Amino acid sequence: MIIICPKCSRKHNVSPDAVKPYIGTGKKLTATCKSCRHRFPVLVDALFAHKGEPEPPKAFKARKICVTLSKGGVGKTTTAVNLGSGLALAGYKVLLVDTDTQGQSAYMLGRKPVAGLTELLTQELTPAECILEARKNLWLLGGGKSLAGVKRIIDRKSFGAEWTLSEALAPLDRQFDFIIMDTSPGWDQLIVNVLFYAQEVLVPVALEVMPLHGLAEFLKSLGSIQKYRKEIVLKYIVPTFLDTRIKGPQSLYAQLKKLYPDTICAPIRYNESLTEAPSFGKTIFEFAPGSTASADYRKLVRTVSLNDNALV
Ligand SMILES: Nc1ncnc2c1ncn2[C@@H]1O[C@H](COP(=O)(O)OP(=O)(O)OP(=O)(O)O)[C@@H](O)[C@H]1O
Ligand SMILES: [Mg+2]
Repeated sequence: MIIICPKCSRKHNVSPDAVKPYIGTGKKLTATCKSCRHRFPVLVDALFAHKGEPEPPKAFKARKICVTLSKGGVGKTTTAVNLGSGLALAGYKVLLVDTDTQGQSAYMLGRKPVAGLTELLTQELTPAECILEARKNLWLLGGGKSLAGVKRIIDRKSFGAEWTLSEALAPLDRQFDFIIMDTSPGWDQLIVNVLFYAQEVLVPVALEVMPLHGLAEFLKSLGSIQKYRKEIVLKYIVPTFLDTRIKGPQSLYAQLKKLYPDTICAPIRYNESLTEAPSFGKTIFEFAPGSTASADYRKLVRTVSLNDNALV
């Protein structure tokens, strides 16, 4: 098992037997980094959450859905985390993959993964060692700053760069019902990799100024990927930040419905609870189960799972 020094980032290989006696005892364990001598607390239970695989391999591969739009702050991470956790509550096995250098999925779930997508892509650790069980049925492959270095490695590949993520995630394909991917804003090699791996695209569109322009631009980029990868389809457009008190967002929603009648989903209304929940490390279903936001994400879970009776 790997313990990473929070100060110098050196990875230490530690025998699981050495820390096992501390599980569930409530005793604090302090580690000393052999490299920089920094002393730091170790969360033993979190370390053990890494171990093992979520399930024996399934007969079918996971549905792979990426939540993406080049425009920032439209509710990508909020949607990926709450859709993922809602599907997990409904009993599906879910892997949430954070491909963003901001690493906010882990923050929203109140978890601090010691390894994640970077270690998977650089093959430093096995897939099972990189994922963390964040909730029952919900596993997280964390993102974060270190992904910036990985992007450079992908950029330098002379061929097959766009398949890097697909190759790394292949061993996890049959262990989950859903693999939900959160992406960063903008457009880079990692997002291209996500679009070469995912089959379904879910686009959150904030019902604010200029959303349709951002969507049109993104759909152009998606079209250029589809020339090479026919399997990827725009499946869901999810309007977010709907403020029912003012007319503007409602008319934007009406426009979207007209333009994309087959892909438009019920909107996620503007709700303060969605802004507050992350600082408590809670999903909307845990933080405000009776809120309109919880009802809206519950509806989205039912739409995506194609199960109108999903118990979220
Ligand atoms: N429906 C909503 N109502 C109110 N606040 C929301 C709603 N959806 C998201 N938020 C808040 O808006 C902010 C931006 O949301 P989020 O981080 O999910 O966007 P993002 O698209 O992932 O951003 P980025 O492009 O930077 O990754 C967050 O503070 C989030 O809590
Ligand atoms: Mg985000």
